[in-house]
Amino acid sequence: MVKVTVAGAAGGIGQPLSLLLKLNPLVTELALYDIVNAHGVAADLSHINTPAVVTGHQPSGKEDNSAITAALKNTDLVVIPAGVPRKPGMTRADLFNINASIVRDLVANIARTAPNAAILIISNPVNSTVPIAAEVLKKLGVFNPRKLFGVTTLDVVRAETFLGGLLDVDPSKLRGKISVVGGHSGDTIVPLINYDSEISNKAKSRLSTSDYEKFVNRVQFGGDEVVKAKNGAGSATLSMALAGYRFAENILESLNGRNQPVLIPDSAYIYLPGIPYGKIFSDKHLNGVEFFSVPVRLQNGRIESFIDPFEGLVKTDEEQKLIEVALKGLTGSIKQGTEFVKGSK
Ligand code: NAI
Repeated sequence: MVKVTVAGAAGGIGQPLSLLLKLNPLVTELALYDIVNAHGVAADLSHINTPAVVTGHQPSGKEDNSAITAALKNTDLVVIPAGVPRKPGMTRADLFNINASIVRDLVANIARTAPNAAILIISNPVNSTVPIAAEVLKKLGVFNPRKLFGVTTLDVVRAETFLGGLLDVDPSKLRGKISVVGGHSGDTIVPLINYDSEISNKAKSRLSTSDYEKFVNRVQFGGDEVVKAKNGAGSATLSMALAGYRFAENILESLNGRNQPVLIPDSAYIYLPGIPYGKIFSDKHLNGVEFFSVPVRLQNGRIESFIDPFEGLVKTDEEQKLIEVALKGLTGSIKQGTEFVKGSK
Protein backbone atom coordinates (compact mmCIF):
# COMPACT_ATOMS: atom_id res chain seq x y z
CA MET A 1 0.00 0.00 0.00
CA VAL A 2 1.70 3.18 -1.12
CA LYS A 3 0.04 6.60 -1.13
CA VAL A 4 1.62 9.38 -3.18
CA THR A 5 0.56 13.03 -2.98
CA VAL A 6 1.29 15.54 -5.73
CA ALA A 7 1.05 19.20 -4.61
CA GLY A 8 0.62 21.40 -7.68
CA ALA A 9 -0.95 18.50 -9.59
CA ALA A 10 -2.89 20.60 -12.11
CA GLY A 11 0.16 22.41 -13.48
CA GLY A 12 2.34 21.90 -16.53
CA ILE A 13 4.58 19.47 -14.63
CA GLY A 14 1.95 18.23 -12.18
CA GLN A 15 -0.41 16.76 -14.80
CA PRO A 16 2.02 14.59 -16.79
CA LEU A 17 3.82 13.62 -13.57
CA SER A 18 0.50 12.50 -12.05
CA LEU A 19 -0.25 10.54 -15.21
CA LEU A 20 3.06 8.67 -14.94
CA LEU A 21 2.43 7.98 -11.24
CA LYS A 22 -1.05 6.66 -12.06
CA LEU A 23 0.59 4.12 -14.39
CA ASN A 24 2.93 2.82 -11.66
CA PRO A 25 1.58 -0.49 -10.27
CA LEU A 26 3.14 0.12 -6.84
CA VAL A 27 0.96 3.18 -6.21
CA THR A 28 -2.32 2.28 -4.51
CA GLU A 29 -3.55 5.83 -3.86
CA LEU A 30 -2.73 9.01 -5.73
CA ALA A 31 -3.86 12.23 -4.02
CA LEU A 32 -3.84 15.28 -6.28
CA TYR A 33 -3.73 18.67 -4.54
CA ASP A 34 -3.86 22.06 -6.26
CA ILE A 35 -5.46 25.44 -5.69
CA VAL A 36 -7.13 25.11 -9.13
CA ASN A 37 -8.60 22.24 -11.16
CA ALA A 38 -7.54 19.42 -8.81
CA HIS A 39 -10.92 17.68 -9.11
CA GLY A 40 -10.89 17.89 -12.90
CA VAL A 41 -7.44 16.35 -13.24
CA ALA A 42 -8.34 13.66 -10.69
CA ALA A 43 -11.58 12.77 -12.52
CA ASP A 44 -9.71 12.52 -15.81
CA LEU A 45 -6.90 10.30 -14.45
CA SER A 46 -9.33 8.17 -12.44
CA HIS A 47 -10.68 6.69 -15.71
CA ILE A 48 -7.33 5.07 -16.50
CA ASN A 49 -7.44 1.33 -15.88
CA THR A 50 -4.66 0.92 -13.31
CA PRO A 51 -5.10 0.02 -9.62
CA ALA A 52 -4.21 3.41 -8.07
CA VAL A 53 -7.27 5.17 -6.64
CA VAL A 54 -7.12 8.86 -7.58
CA THR A 55 -8.52 11.59 -5.33
CA GLY A 56 -8.66 15.36 -6.00
CA HIS A 57 -8.23 17.97 -3.25
CA GLN A 58 -8.77 21.69 -3.73
CA PRO A 59 -9.21 24.30 -0.98
CA SER A 60 -12.36 26.42 -1.03
CA GLY A 61 -10.42 29.53 0.08
CA LYS A 62 -7.16 30.77 1.60
CA GLU A 63 -8.08 29.73 5.14
CA ASP A 64 -9.29 26.23 4.15
CA ASN A 65 -6.73 23.63 5.32
CA SER A 66 -9.01 20.61 5.01
CA ALA A 67 -8.09 19.79 1.38
CA ILE A 68 -4.32 19.71 1.97
CA THR A 69 -4.82 17.76 5.20
CA ALA A 70 -6.89 15.09 3.40
CA ALA A 71 -4.37 14.94 0.53
CA LEU A 72 -1.51 14.39 2.96
CA LYS A 73 -3.14 12.01 5.45
CA ASN A 74 -1.19 8.69 5.63
CA THR A 75 0.88 9.56 2.57
CA ASP A 76 4.28 7.93 1.99
CA LEU A 77 5.64 10.32 -0.60
CA VAL A 78 4.87 13.95 -1.41
CA VAL A 79 6.06 15.41 -4.72
CA ILE A 80 5.92 19.22 -4.94
CA PRO A 81 5.82 20.90 -8.36
CA ALA A 82 3.60 23.75 -7.00
CA GLY A 83 4.51 27.31 -7.86
CA VAL A 84 5.09 29.55 -10.82
CA PRO A 85 7.40 28.61 -13.68
CA ARG A 86 10.14 30.76 -15.20
CA LYS A 87 9.20 33.16 -17.99
CA PRO A 88 11.68 34.60 -20.55
CA GLY A 89 14.15 36.93 -18.88
CA MET A 90 13.40 35.49 -15.43
CA THR A 91 16.12 33.60 -13.60
CA ARG A 92 15.31 30.86 -11.12
CA ALA A 93 16.22 33.36 -8.43
CA ASP A 94 13.47 35.72 -9.66
CA LEU A 95 10.96 33.06 -8.75
CA PHE A 96 12.14 33.11 -5.20
CA ASN A 97 9.59 35.34 -3.52
CA ILE A 98 6.50 33.59 -4.87
CA ASN A 99 7.67 30.01 -4.66
CA ALA A 100 9.42 30.39 -1.29
CA SER A 101 6.10 31.07 0.48
CA ILE A 102 4.30 28.28 -1.38
CA VAL A 103 6.93 25.69 -0.42
CA ARG A 104 7.18 26.97 3.18
CA ASP A 105 3.41 26.62 3.71
CA LEU A 106 3.09 23.24 2.00
CA VAL A 107 6.00 21.79 4.00
CA ALA A 108 4.51 23.11 7.26
CA ASN A 109 1.38 21.12 6.42
CA ILE A 110 3.45 18.03 5.65
CA ALA A 111 5.24 18.42 9.00
CA ARG A 112 1.89 18.47 10.82
CA THR A 113 0.01 15.80 8.84
CA ALA A 114 2.62 13.47 7.32
CA PRO A 115 5.89 13.95 9.23
CA ASN A 116 7.26 10.57 8.08
CA ALA A 117 6.68 11.06 4.35
CA ALA A 118 9.54 11.39 1.87
CA ILE A 119 9.44 14.87 0.29
CA LEU A 120 10.55 15.56 -3.29
CA ILE A 121 10.81 19.26 -4.12
CA ILE A 122 10.63 20.31 -7.76
CA SER A 123 9.58 23.96 -7.22
CA ASN A 124 12.37 26.34 -8.15
CA PRO A 125 14.75 27.75 -7.12
CA VAL A 126 15.57 24.28 -5.76
CA ASN A 127 18.91 25.62 -4.41
CA SER A 128 16.80 27.68 -1.94
CA THR A 129 13.45 25.87 -1.68
CA VAL A 130 15.07 22.73 -0.21
CA PRO A 131 16.84 24.74 2.55
CA ILE A 132 13.47 26.42 3.16
CA ALA A 133 11.82 23.02 3.59
CA ALA A 134 14.61 21.83 5.91
CA GLU A 135 14.30 24.96 8.04
CA VAL A 136 10.51 24.57 8.36
CA LEU A 137 10.84 20.88 9.28
CA LYS A 138 13.55 21.73 11.85
CA LYS A 139 11.39 24.49 13.32
CA LEU A 140 8.52 22.02 13.72
CA GLY A 141 10.81 19.32 15.16
CA VAL A 142 10.36 16.67 12.45
CA PHE A 143 13.35 17.12 10.12
CA ASN A 144 14.63 13.82 8.72
CA PRO A 145 17.50 14.67 6.31
CA ARG A 146 17.26 11.18 4.79
CA LYS A 147 13.77 11.95 3.51
CA LEU A 148 14.11 15.43 2.01
CA PHE A 149 15.16 15.62 -1.65
CA GLY A 150 15.56 18.45 -4.14
CA VAL A 151 14.79 16.95 -7.55
CA THR A 152 17.77 17.55 -9.85
CA THR A 153 17.16 14.52 -12.07
CA LEU A 154 16.39 16.74 -15.08
CA ASP A 155 20.04 17.80 -15.08
CA VAL A 156 21.05 14.13 -15.14
CA VAL A 157 18.56 13.34 -17.94
CA ARG A 158 19.86 16.30 -19.97
CA ALA A 159 23.49 15.29 -19.37
CA GLU A 160 22.75 11.76 -20.61
CA THR A 161 20.92 13.08 -23.68
CA PHE A 162 23.49 15.71 -24.66
CA LEU A 163 26.52 13.46 -24.04
CA GLY A 164 24.88 10.57 -25.88
CA GLY A 165 24.46 12.89 -28.87
CA LEU A 166 28.09 14.01 -28.77
CA LEU A 167 29.51 10.48 -28.39
CA ASP A 168 26.99 8.87 -30.71
CA VAL A 169 25.83 6.55 -27.92
CA ASP A 170 22.22 5.65 -27.08
CA PRO A 171 21.56 8.10 -24.21
CA SER A 172 19.35 5.60 -22.38
CA LYS A 173 22.46 3.39 -22.00
CA LEU A 174 24.24 6.17 -20.10
CA ARG A 175 21.99 5.86 -17.07
CA GLY A 176 24.12 5.53 -13.95
CA LYS A 177 27.26 6.38 -15.90
CA ILE A 178 27.18 10.17 -15.62
CA SER A 179 26.78 11.99 -12.34
CA VAL A 180 25.60 15.55 -11.94
CA VAL A 181 26.53 17.14 -8.65
CA GLY A 182 26.32 20.58 -7.03
CA GLY A 183 23.12 22.59 -7.28
CA HIS A 184 20.27 23.12 -9.72
CA SER A 185 20.89 26.46 -11.37
CA GLY A 186 23.43 27.64 -13.96
CA ASP A 187 27.02 27.19 -12.90
CA THR A 188 26.09 25.41 -9.69
CA ILE A 189 25.30 22.37 -11.91
CA VAL A 190 28.36 20.13 -12.41
CA PRO A 191 28.22 17.11 -14.74
CA LEU A 192 30.95 14.54 -14.07
CA ILE A 193 31.42 12.45 -17.17
CA ASN A 194 34.41 10.44 -16.12
CA TYR A 195 32.41 8.36 -13.68
CA ASP A 196 32.70 5.23 -15.75
CA SER A 197 35.96 4.28 -17.47
CA GLU A 198 34.41 3.12 -20.77
CA ILE A 199 32.48 6.38 -21.19
CA SER A 200 35.41 8.33 -19.86
CA ASN A 201 37.72 6.84 -22.48
CA LYS A 202 35.24 7.53 -25.26
CA ALA A 203 34.73 11.09 -24.08
CA LYS A 204 38.47 11.70 -23.79
CA SER A 205 39.16 10.42 -27.29
CA ARG A 206 36.16 12.09 -28.94
CA LEU A 207 35.49 15.37 -27.14
CA SER A 208 37.74 18.35 -27.77
CA THR A 209 38.16 20.85 -24.92
CA SER A 210 35.70 23.18 -26.62
CA ASP A 211 33.15 20.35 -27.12
CA TYR A 212 33.51 19.48 -23.45
CA GLU A 213 32.99 23.11 -22.41
CA LYS A 214 29.93 23.36 -24.68
CA PHE A 215 28.55 20.16 -23.15
CA VAL A 216 28.96 21.49 -19.61
CA ASN A 217 27.42 24.82 -20.59
CA ARG A 218 24.44 23.15 -22.27
CA VAL A 219 23.71 21.02 -19.19
CA GLN A 220 24.05 24.08 -16.95
CA PHE A 221 21.81 26.31 -19.08
CA GLY A 222 19.66 23.74 -20.92
CA GLY A 223 16.56 25.02 -19.13
CA ASP A 224 16.95 28.38 -20.89
CA GLU A 225 16.60 26.67 -24.31
CA VAL A 226 13.13 25.49 -23.30
CA VAL A 227 12.08 28.80 -21.72
CA LYS A 228 13.11 30.62 -24.91
CA ALA A 229 11.44 28.15 -27.26
CA LYS A 230 8.18 28.25 -25.26
CA ASN A 231 8.25 32.03 -25.67
CA GLY A 232 6.35 33.07 -22.57
CA ALA A 233 4.44 29.83 -21.98
CA GLY A 234 6.69 28.65 -19.13
CA SER A 235 9.66 26.33 -18.59
CA ALA A 236 10.33 22.60 -19.01
CA THR A 237 7.25 20.55 -18.13
CA LEU A 238 7.24 17.24 -20.03
CA SER A 239 10.95 16.47 -19.63
CA MET A 240 10.67 17.59 -15.99
CA ALA A 241 7.67 15.35 -15.39
CA LEU A 242 9.65 12.40 -16.74
CA ALA A 243 12.68 13.32 -14.65
CA GLY A 244 10.57 13.82 -11.51
CA TYR A 245 8.87 10.51 -12.14
CA ARG A 246 12.22 8.78 -12.62
CA PHE A 247 13.28 9.90 -9.15
CA ALA A 248 9.88 9.14 -7.60
CA GLU A 249 10.05 5.67 -9.16
CA ASN A 250 13.39 5.08 -7.43
CA ILE A 251 11.73 5.92 -4.12
CA LEU A 252 8.74 3.67 -4.89
CA GLU A 253 11.02 0.78 -5.79
CA SER A 254 12.96 1.28 -2.59
CA LEU A 255 9.65 1.10 -0.69
CA ASN A 256 8.75 -2.17 -2.34
CA GLY A 257 9.57 -4.27 0.72
CA ARG A 258 12.73 -5.81 -0.69
CA ASN A 259 14.83 -3.97 1.86
CA GLN A 260 17.59 -3.66 -0.74
CA PRO A 261 19.17 -0.38 -1.83
CA VAL A 262 18.13 0.89 -5.28
CA LEU A 263 21.12 -0.10 -7.37
CA ILE A 264 21.43 2.76 -9.85
CA PRO A 265 21.71 5.99 -7.92
CA ASP A 266 20.35 9.25 -9.33
CA SER A 267 21.47 12.57 -7.95
CA ALA A 268 19.36 14.61 -5.55
CA TYR A 269 20.00 17.86 -3.68
CA ILE A 270 20.20 16.88 -0.02
CA TYR A 271 21.30 18.07 3.43
CA LEU A 272 24.64 16.30 3.72
CA PRO A 273 25.67 16.86 7.33
CA GLY A 274 22.50 15.06 8.41
CA ILE A 275 23.27 11.74 6.74
CA PRO A 276 25.13 9.65 9.29
CA TYR A 277 26.76 7.33 6.79
CA GLY A 278 30.23 6.94 5.35
CA LYS A 279 32.50 9.87 4.79
CA ILE A 280 30.71 13.13 5.45
CA PHE A 281 32.31 15.92 3.46
CA SER A 282 35.11 17.50 5.35
CA ASP A 283 34.74 21.23 5.99
CA LYS A 284 37.65 22.02 3.71
CA HIS A 285 35.79 20.42 0.81
CA LEU A 286 32.36 21.72 1.63
CA ASN A 287 33.41 25.20 2.60
CA GLY A 288 30.41 25.34 4.94
CA VAL A 289 27.93 24.45 2.18
CA GLU A 290 25.39 22.07 3.70
CA PHE A 291 23.14 21.30 0.71
CA PHE A 292 24.64 19.64 -2.35
CA SER A 293 23.40 17.35 -5.08
CA VAL A 294 25.02 13.91 -5.01
CA PRO A 295 24.08 10.45 -6.31
CA VAL A 296 22.02 8.81 -3.57
CA ARG A 297 21.32 5.16 -2.85
CA LEU A 298 17.81 4.66 -1.50
CA GLN A 299 16.39 2.07 0.84
CA ASN A 300 12.87 1.95 2.27
CA GLY A 301 12.02 5.40 0.94
CA ARG A 302 15.02 7.08 2.50
CA ILE A 303 18.67 7.79 1.76
CA GLU A 304 20.77 4.77 2.63
CA SER A 305 24.03 6.40 1.53
CA PHE A 306 25.43 8.79 -1.03
CA ILE A 307 28.42 8.92 -3.31
CA ASP A 308 30.83 11.60 -2.21
CA PRO A 309 32.20 13.44 -5.29
CA PHE A 310 35.28 14.40 -3.27
CA GLU A 311 36.05 10.79 -2.37
CA GLY A 312 34.07 8.37 -4.49
CA LEU A 313 33.97 9.91 -7.99
CA VAL A 314 37.05 10.21 -10.18
CA LYS A 315 37.44 13.78 -11.38
CA THR A 316 39.63 15.86 -13.65
CA ASP A 317 41.12 19.17 -12.51
CA GLU A 318 38.55 20.93 -14.71
CA GLU A 319 35.68 19.19 -12.93
CA GLN A 320 37.22 19.99 -9.56
CA LYS A 321 37.26 23.68 -10.54
CA LEU A 322 33.60 23.50 -11.61
CA ILE A 323 32.72 22.08 -8.19
CA GLU A 324 34.48 24.97 -6.49
CA VAL A 325 32.47 27.47 -8.57
CA ALA A 326 29.27 25.59 -7.66
CA LEU A 327 30.06 25.74 -3.95
CA LYS A 328 30.48 29.52 -4.16
CA GLY A 329 27.15 29.94 -5.96
CA LEU A 330 25.28 27.73 -3.52
CA THR A 331 26.34 29.64 -0.43
CA GLY A 332 24.10 32.65 -1.18
CA SER A 333 21.06 30.63 -2.32
CA ILE A 334 21.11 28.45 0.79
CA LYS A 335 21.43 31.48 3.05
CA GLN A 336 18.55 33.18 1.23
CA GLY A 337 16.30 30.16 1.83
CA THR A 338 17.25 29.70 5.48
CA GLU A 339 16.86 33.40 6.28
CA PHE A 340 13.49 33.52 4.53
CA VAL A 341 12.11 31.02 7.06
CA LYS A 342 13.89 32.59 10.02
CA GLY A 343 12.31 35.94 9.05
CA SER A 344 8.82 34.40 8.67
CA LYS A 345 6.36 34.31 11.54
P1 NAI B 1 2.56 25.71 -13.61
O1 NAI B 1 2.23 27.12 -13.33
O2 NAI B 1 2.13 25.12 -14.90
O3 NAI B 1 1.99 24.79 -12.45
C1 NAI B 1 2.14 25.09 -11.10
C2 NAI B 1 0.91 24.60 -10.38
O4 NAI B 1 1.09 24.90 -9.00
C3 NAI B 1 -0.39 25.30 -10.84
O5 NAI B 1 -1.37 24.33 -11.17
C4 NAI B 1 -0.78 26.12 -9.62
O6 NAI B 1 -2.19 26.25 -9.47
C5 NAI B 1 -0.18 25.28 -8.51
N1 NAI B 1 -0.04 26.02 -7.26
C6 NAI B 1 0.31 27.31 -7.05
N2 NAI B 1 0.29 27.60 -5.74
C7 NAI B 1 -0.04 26.44 -5.10
C8 NAI B 1 -0.21 26.09 -3.74
N3 NAI B 1 -0.04 26.98 -2.75
N4 NAI B 1 -0.55 24.82 -3.45
C9 NAI B 1 -0.74 23.90 -4.44
N5 NAI B 1 -0.60 24.18 -5.75
C10 NAI B 1 -0.25 25.44 -6.07
O7 NAI B 1 4.15 25.55 -13.42
P2 NAI B 1 5.08 24.33 -13.89
O8 NAI B 1 5.60 24.59 -15.24
O9 NAI B 1 4.36 23.06 -13.62
O10 NAI B 1 6.30 24.50 -12.87
C11 NAI B 1 6.15 24.26 -11.50
C12 NAI B 1 7.43 24.53 -10.74
O11 NAI B 1 8.47 23.63 -11.12
C13 NAI B 1 8.00 25.93 -10.98
O12 NAI B 1 8.50 26.45 -9.77
C14 NAI B 1 9.16 25.66 -11.93
O13 NAI B 1 10.14 26.66 -11.89
C15 NAI B 1 9.67 24.37 -11.37
N6 NAI B 1 10.55 23.60 -12.28
C16 NAI B 1 11.51 22.83 -11.71
C17 NAI B 1 12.37 22.09 -12.46
C18 NAI B 1 13.40 21.24 -11.81
O14 NAI B 1 14.26 20.69 -12.52
N7 NAI B 1 13.39 21.05 -10.50
C19 NAI B 1 12.31 22.12 -13.93
C20 NAI B 1 11.21 22.90 -14.46
C21 NAI B 1 10.39 23.64 -13.64
